[in-house]
Amino acid sequence: MKIGIYPGSFAPITKGHMDIILRASKLVDKLIIALLYNPAKTDMQFSVEDRLHMMHLATSDIGNVIVDSHSGLLVEYIQNKNIDLIIKGIRNSTDFEYEAQMAVINKKLHGNIETIFLLSSPEYTLLSSSVVRELIHFGGNIEEFVPKQIITTLHSLQKY
Ligand code: PNS
Repeated sequence: MKIGIYPGSFAPITKGHMDIILRASKLVDKLIIALLYNPAKTDMQFSVEDRLHMMHLATSDIGNVIVDSHSGLLVEYIQNKNIDLIIKGIRNSTDFEYEAQMAVINKKLHGNIETIFLLSSPEYTLLSSSVVRELIHFGGNIEEFVPKQIITTLHSLQKY
């Protein structure tokens, strides 16, 4: 059984993430959507619990996807869960620069773990969680950008 992991901050999960999740879920037998800590992103607005809740809501109807979290290194989690593959989404050259570095470091840290990159579908190349957070902050309409299953929760969190 091939197990893939799609790690990220998911603050909050967006339709861009869902694009990658749906496509990645077809490449592996089981896909773990893992909430990990990115030390470069300190102002997430949403707690780990809130983000996990929204990830669950958005992915519960995809058969081979599970949601989890880990507070340490990605490679530690990979080792413990016997994961075969890291899957990441790439929107542009900035993402590529960052993700290529992460892929090389993760490979050095753990038994040649491979990372594969899926190019974002064109309609999502300009979408990010930070844009969604800014829209929420200013009361803009987010419906086009986040999975419909999380809209009520996002509004109820009132963290803006
Ligand atoms: O959605 P993001 O913020 O781009 O996701 C980045 C994330 C959380 C996947 C990355 O920061 C990460 O893997 N964090 C865990 C710590 C780790 O293993 N870092 C890579 C080696 S330095």
